[in-house]
Amino acid sequence: MKGEAMIELRNVSRQFGDITAVDNLSLRIEKGEICVFIGTSGCGKSTTLRLLNKLIDCSSGEIWVDGENVAKLDSELLRRRMGYAIQSTGLFPHWTVARNIGVVPRLLGWPADKIEARVRELLELLSLPYTAFAAKFPSQLSGGQAQRVGVARALAADPDILLMDEPFGALDPITRESLQNELLRIQAHIHKTIVFVTHDIDEALRLASRIVVMDKGRVVQYDTPQNLLNNPANSFVENLLGQGERGLKRASLQRVEQFMLPLSGEPPSLDIETGSSLRQALSLMLWHRVDQLCVRGPDSSAQGVLPISAVLHSHE
Ligand SMILES: Nc1ncnc2c1ncn2[C@@H]1O[C@H](COP(=O)(O)OP(=O)(O)O)[C@@H](O)[C@H]1O
Ligand SMILES: [Mg+2]
Repeated sequence: MKGEAMIELRNVSRQFGDITAVDNLSLRIEKGEICVFIGTSGCGKSTTLRLLNKLIDCSSGEIWVDGENVAKLDSELLRRRMGYAIQSTGLFPHWTVARNIGVVPRLLGWPADKIEARVRELLELLSLPYTAFAAKFPSQLSGGQAQRVGVARALAADPDILLMDEPFGALDPITRESLQNELLRIQAHIHKTIVFVTHDIDEALRLASRIVVMDKGRVVQYDTPQNLLNNPANSFVENLLGQGERGLKRASLQRVEQFMLPLSGEPPSLDIETGSSLRQALSLMLWHRVDQLCVRGPDSSAQGVLPISAVLHSHE
């Protein structure tokens, strides 16, 4: 077995009357992963998250978190160890941003100065300057700012696990992309185990270390974004990926420096930065009608050359 399981579901089912929302789910989520659940509306994603933090109980099966069976844990205490961010943010409208973020630390009895320092740290982490935002009320925030506050609140007591249920679902595409980048940037520092629900395949491919594709309460495929694109388990997954778009989706996961060749002679006149995706490289080539790019590092030094043939053979 590789890695260490932070969360493990063993044959978990949850019924609501006649409806089986979650159907015999077994899954291991390793420490430090971003595990993204994706599937059509009603397939059981939110129910799974609510089972994890015991907002609801399993009808059968077991959930283990960090080596403990959650059935044996107090649900309030468990919830304080897991941050929870949702689409509607759930911020208290008559509380300031600072008070909203500090809600769990207050419940945990932290002293006031420690709470204030933590709120300050989190606001800065989420690119919301403390002096401008701490005293604002939720109604004074844009959708993107409110979601950032929701994420800050979920992180407030430094939980090991972060549960996120379509947190960016209501945002416009540009704000959504900047919050996705923000989440990846933050995760590189905090290394939480993140369980993230979305119905947007591009969001899933972008954020996930592993993706759980769900349909009718069951796991259809559990794999890395690369493997999902290269080997979709069945036509349901193929459709989810959008067959005609697969090439571009895969190219957006691959970095130019993985495929560039050593420079020989004059570098090509058109540049692309390291860290850019093959999709961006392809788009530049199409736009400028060139068949090779010079890959340059952050210091502008030429690192290599990316010919279109390297892009075409990138899946091998
Ligand atoms: N509290 C509830 N009572 C009754 N049915 C529910 C409840 N919560 C979820 N369901 C049903 O369970 C199924 C899965 O719902 P949900 O987990 O919210 O799906 P998703 O988040 O993937 O859209 C749906 O059929 C939904 O109607
Ligand atoms: Mg849902």
